[in-house]
Amino acid sequence: MKVLGILGSPRIGGNSDILLDQALAGAKDAGAEVEKIILCKQRISGCLACEKCNKTGVCAIDDDMPAIHKKILEAHAIIHSVPVYFWAMTAQMKAYLDRWCALFDAEWRWHKAYWPRMKGKRIGLITLCGDSNVATADPIVHSFKNTCEFTGLNLVGVVQASASAKGEIAANEAAKKEAYELGKKAAARE
Ligand SMILES: Cc1cc2nc3c(=O)[nH]c(=O)nc-3n(C[C@H](O)[C@H](O)[C@H](O)COP(=O)(O)O)c2cc1C
Repeated sequence: MKVLGILGSPRIGGNSDILLDQALAGAKDAGAEVEKIILCKQRISGCLACEKCNKTGVCAIDDDMPAIHKKILEAHAIIHSVPVYFWAMTAQMKAYLDRWCALFDAEWRWHKAYWPRMKGKRIGLITLCGDSNVATADPIVHSFKNTCEFTGLNLVGVVQASASAKGEIAANEAAKKEAYELGKKAAARE
């Protein structure tokens, strides 16, 4: 059983990365095999809306995303961790999310071959923001929540934390524990 971690911050070793590692530690302790994908190290361009994938289920863009699509399909759960940039998710996370498009048909239903593997797939979300009010990240939560509801994915938990300087979140034991528990929950069977 594989739990995939998706890092949407370009700041490696930063706050999103630290909490994602906590979540993946929780998943590992719950018996999962874990893998982290650092989006800024991947070549992922924006969706071109070429609609070729509507028929084929395969993205026409020749970059690193088709390989990530395979990992998405295979994963038991996917935990995303991303900071707020200008009241929204980072460009890296948005490009990744838009490219999920390839998994749907023209009516925004999962391609038949993918549905059995995507139905109810467990999704986790961790957000970071510099603002002391963690609700600053609510637009990101809104995006993931609606995506999951619309497509039949199972959003198992959201952790919202506040930190500004690189690595500052390491001192926040409560946020680290919450992220760890999210990872455990993501790895659960039901
Ligand atoms: C380009 C940029 C834009 C940002 N915009 C916001 C913002 O709109 N609201 C906010 O609360 N924090 C904002 N921040 C702060 C980050 O969300 C915060 O520092 C976070 O902890 C970074 O997480 P990381 O260490 O994982 O990269 C911004 C940071 C950067 C670099």
